[in-house]
Amino acid sequence: MTKAFYITTAIDYANGTPHLGHAYEKVLTDVLARYHRLKGERVQFLTGLDEHGQKVQQSARARGIEPIDLCDEAAGLFQGLCAKLLISNDDFIRTTEERHKSVVRRLLQDLHDRGLIYQAEYKGFYSTRAEQFLQEKDKVDGEWPEIYGEVVEITEANYFFRLAQFQDWLVEHIQTHEDFIFPRFRARQVLEFLKEPINDLCISRPKERLSWGIPLPFDDAYVTYVWFDALVNYISAVGQGTPEFEAYWPADYHVIGKDILVPPHAVYWPIMLHACGIPLPKTILAHGWWLKSGRKVSKSTGVTIDPLELIDRFGPDPFRYFVTREMNVGQDSEFSVELFLSRYGSDLANDLGNLINRLLNMAGRYRDATVPSSGEPGEEESTLRSLWEETRPSVLGLYDEFLFHTALEKTFEFIRATNRYTERRAPWKLAKNTDPAAAGQLDTTLATMAEAIRLALSLLGPVMPETREKGFQLLGSGPADTWENELAWGDSLAGSRLAAPTILFPRPGPDLAPVDQPG
Ligand code: MSP
Repeated sequence: MTKAFYITTAIDYANGTPHLGHAYEKVLTDVLARYHRLKGERVQFLTGLDEHGQKVQQSARARGIEPIDLCDEAAGLFQGLCAKLLISNDDFIRTTEERHKSVVRRLLQDLHDRGLIYQAEYKGFYSTRAEQFLQEKDKVDGEWPEIYGEVVEITEANYFFRLAQFQDWLVEHIQTHEDFIFPRFRARQVLEFLKEPINDLCISRPKERLSWGIPLPFDDAYVTYVWFDALVNYISAVGQGTPEFEAYWPADYHVIGKDILVPPHAVYWPIMLHACGIPLPKTILAHGWWLKSGRKVSKSTGVTIDPLELIDRFGPDPFRYFVTREMNVGQDSEFSVELFLSRYGSDLANDLGNLINRLLNMAGRYRDATVPSSGEPGEEESTLRSLWEETRPSVLGLYDEFLFHTALEKTFEFIRATNRYTERRAPWKLAKNTDPAAAGQLDTTLATMAEAIRLALSLLGPVMPETREKGFQLLGSGPADTWENELAWGDSLAGSRLAAPTILFPRPGPDLAPVDQPG
């Protein structure tokens, strides 16, 4: 079997509810997954839920329920988010599943057998919120930053993974694999972090403090540290240890937020894999944060935006379009409902929706709702077609470079050019003109509009899958055998029956209440 293009998101904490940050990451990963599927690749897209750890145990206790019941509830919410957003994940892993736990136990046992895990006394500062030990250097201006919540000093015997002995190897790997971390400036940050000696990683928690975890296979008085457990999902989900594994691994992209790059994904994970003799993922793609009034959208900052409300109101594609159009992957982006409404109104309702509606209207009125055959293209048609011939490769190139916001900008430039073309050709005037040449020009204009719309819808496919499908239905057309063929300018629509005029992106009424909570 050919190796799949394997792409993953981070797995979300089960003690939270889905917010804009989670929704964005799933959309971004889905855009990549759909893009590669459209290019004809076999794709495996994994997302899931991070279910163990202190926070889940505490939240469940606070509610008087079992941790697994809390996780089942969260799994429903996050899977519901995926469905509403049309996320095309092939798998959803939960770290409480046996297929995951058995791989974690096997890796731990293997590392222990080879002397890479040892027991030692640990005395230090511990953050319950971050579930990690801290060092003096983590303080800012002599204080523990707010993100760590309550920090307490504890002493306990624990198990440690020999992380430090792989530090030089990791530095060399990052230096010699330019594509390992995207954007590049983040790779430089990781190398900066690695200039200081790293400590061995404490990978256990005594059961008396934390029982909600995977017991260590060699000492069941302890459970596994949640990061050591969670990271393994990327390989446990694709059958590490079985022959099928080769058909997926190494992952092509791990899509994560910048907050979990250093140290979990850029330090712990590569070293864990290397120590186990497993190849490394090809690329870690670290996106930026969605902010609201300059603050990170998250459960712990109390700033949350329920993406489901926007999706319920407008459907999945406007949300998918907005987050992909606004966020320059790698940078942070400010969210506001006003900005969402402005993009919705100008790009979707005005530029794209109106264009489609106009075609359906005019073809309905003048050509019995059938796409005519184009006559000889004139200068206007040739100019629009040349723009398409430039737009298509340039947009695909931008997709390859993760520059989705610019890819959408360029796609919409083409859509706006098609609107200008329509204005200049003025089919409503041609329809009134009794000169026989005008009838041919009207055919050509309607055929050109229909073709340009079909192509734009196709190019929007990775970001707006529902719009592509619905739009194709309105055009009386369907997907081609390959995306490459679908993106070629042609006359496949000639003779197609068009649907009745439809408003694809209805303007919101005046009663649209703000859907974000005060920051
Ligand atoms: N459970 C860990 C990840 C383990 S991966 C082996 C975790 N969970 S999380 O629920 O806090 O975050 C899940 C993902 O959402 C992370 O990649 C995180 O960066 C992303 N986001 C959370 N808030 C975000 C924003 N405000 N903006 C964009 N993405 C952010 O971390």
